[in-house]
Amino acid sequence: AKDGYELWLDYQPISNPQLRNEVSSLFSGVYFFGQNPTFDIVKKELAISGLKLVNQDPVFRTERLNPTKLWLGTREQLSQVLGLQQQVEIQKLDEDGYWRGPIDFQGNTYYAIIGNKPVGVLYGVFDWLKSIQTETFNLKSEKSDYPKVKLRMLNHWDNLDRTVERGYAGFSIWDWHKLPGYIDPRYIEYARANASLGINAVSLTNVNANARILTTDFMKKAKVLADLFRPYGIKVFLTARFSAPMEIGGLKTADPLDPEVISFWKKKTDEMYSFIPDFGGFLVKANSEGQPGPHEYKRTHAEGANMLADALAPHGGILIWRAFVYSHEIDEDRHKQANLEFVPLDGKFRDNVIIQVKNGAIDFQPREPFHPLFGAVKNTNLGMEFQITQEYLGQATQLVYLAPMWKEVLDTKTYSPSSNSTVAGIVDGSDSNQKLTLMAGVSNIGTDRNWTGHLMAQSNWFAFGRLAWDPYLSSEEIASEWIKMTFGQKPDSNAKIKEIMLDSHEAAVNYMTPLGLHHIMGRSHHYGPGPWVEGGRADWTSLYYHRADSLGIGFDRTDSGSNALAQYAPEIANSWSDPTQIPEKYLLWFHHLPWDYRMKSGNTLWNEIALHYDQGVKSARKMKSTWDSLEGQIDPERFSHISQLLAIQVQEAEWWRNACLLYFQTFSNRPFPSEIEKPE
Ligand code: GCU
Repeated sequence: AKDGYELWLDYQPISNPQLRNEVSSLFSGVYFFGQNPTFDIVKKELAISGLKLVNQDPVFRTERLNPTKLWLGTREQLSQVLGLQQQVEIQKLDEDGYWRGPIDFQGNTYYAIIGNKPVGVLYGVFDWLKSIQTETFNLKSEKSDYPKVKLRMLNHWDNLDRTVERGYAGFSIWDWHKLPGYIDPRYIEYARANASLGINAVSLTNVNANARILTTDFMKKAKVLADLFRPYGIKVFLTARFSAPMEIGGLKTADPLDPEVISFWKKKTDEMYSFIPDFGGFLVKANSEGQPGPHEYKRTHAEGANMLADALAPHGGILIWRAFVYSHEIDEDRHKQANLEFVPLDGKFRDNVIIQVKNGAIDFQPREPFHPLFGAVKNTNLGMEFQITQEYLGQATQLVYLAPMWKEVLDTKTYSPSSNSTVAGIVDGSDSNQKLTLMAGVSNIGTDRNWTGHLMAQSNWFAFGRLAWDPYLSSEEIASEWIKMTFGQKPDSNAKIKEIMLDSHEAAVNYMTPLGLHHIMGRSHHYGPGPWVEGGRADWTSLYYHRADSLGIGFDRTDSGSNALAQYAPEIANSWSDPTQIPEKYLLWFHHLPWDYRMKSGNTLWNEIALHYDQGVKSARKMKSTWDSLEGQIDPERFSHISQLLAIQVQEAEWWRNACLLYFQTFSNRPFPSEIEKPE
């Protein structure tokens, strides 16, 4: 049954006869220039894919020369058959890069897939298999590629009891109870899927961390996963709870400058490396949303992070410290808090510290302007944190392809450190000269048969991996790849699926939070509309964010308001301070404007808001009708799964529109524009 378990590695049979012949011939003579655990995995992948693509078991030869066809190995292993120039070219592709293409040797032509390291071969093979699945493989041409970002990482928000914070696809795939004795086959499928995208790091546990993960018993469990993932090129990280010295170490303090605390972390870290010699490091959420941290001891984020970084450094480990810090006790626009805390610490973090910054300053909203920390520090490693799981984007009932949202942020110009800098350029180090680079994505994976709850949400895991590899890819090409790999070669239906995917993010923004509105979801679960939410923590209420009143709507973040805009480079601050210059999609994020404010369209602000909400509903309906037109062209299982969910999405879009418009109308006191369907 087509239930989605195979993800994008479903290797459907090749129908194109020429391609089939070529691929079949390559599978008939495979030669590896060496042996190692990663090559064993490559062999397994060739066995799976050969059978599915061309109904053929690969023939692994023990002799190098003819009749071998497909050569695999590292640059060093192939040095005798490669020209000097070619070796130099391949060497430039960094640790994880690969080259694939024809090689002439002693009168014969071989097709070679070469990496600088074994994992590069694995990536090259996955890319080659992708080119077959997408029918772009050309036996005669060369291709080389390497990842632009060093750490391409999934963050699981998985708890030790297998619940998943913000998880909508069942329980955690980590079965801590049965580890270390029992190895769930899913662990391997998971590693394969990640390696196929070049994802090379994973943090297994929730950022709201449980200190027990750092006990010896759990280290033994984590070791099993690390051993399984190693040949796939994936390193394991764990989240460290700042108060662990007190909770599991029997100390009275977690003060990062206390010698006993320092020694606790050093011992813990050494022990961790005794189990996992290539342990990636720790990910820490500190002094945010009530989590413990250095501020309790009047120490800075840098003092907290450096203490852990020093424990990791002798082992080559990395300390990832999150910039998602805010506290309602601080009477300041939440948008500003990360910069207020981190900019003064610029240059004070150790070299093996990365500050992991959410794409926007609030919290994974359907659309956020980029986080002002990008561009605001010069001597601090910054990493990007995206959220793949759809906490604020319809969770598991809505189809929202997230690549366009991530690309919008990555492509934005920061004007700092230089006038051409972009967020992507800072993240991949090309604009910042940062060596240690990171892109992290909060995972949407769970125990559901199809991994992600909504089958189409697999595309977000895929897109995250692709963008972490290369933030300059377009959302469109990523969608095309994923659709072909998931649904096969069906040009007509694929074009329609792509249209649905590419429209989906704007649709969701329109029916949820158009024109820069934000954080007006239901309280704490964040599912569905809740613009009326009041009471409790000021910064968890909707009114704090939309600020609607009889005069107008929006959060004034110009100099007449919180002045968060001043945290951006002057080029941005100046133009975005002007409501006529700021892109209208961010308007109410930064401006409080009267209901009759004239938009570029000539409409009043109130009418424009209403039209956007209505447009969102129309787009959702169109997504549904386009999908339904594919009946018979897609297997019944997946067709029905997605069709049913789209029906829910349409209802939810209507719910959002009606709830928000009726609520905001109590402030605007204006009629709805006649063009829209009347909310009720
Ligand atoms: C959001 C989310 C929390 C999460 C937090 C974080 O606020 O709702 O569940 O813990 O982000 O990123 O730390």
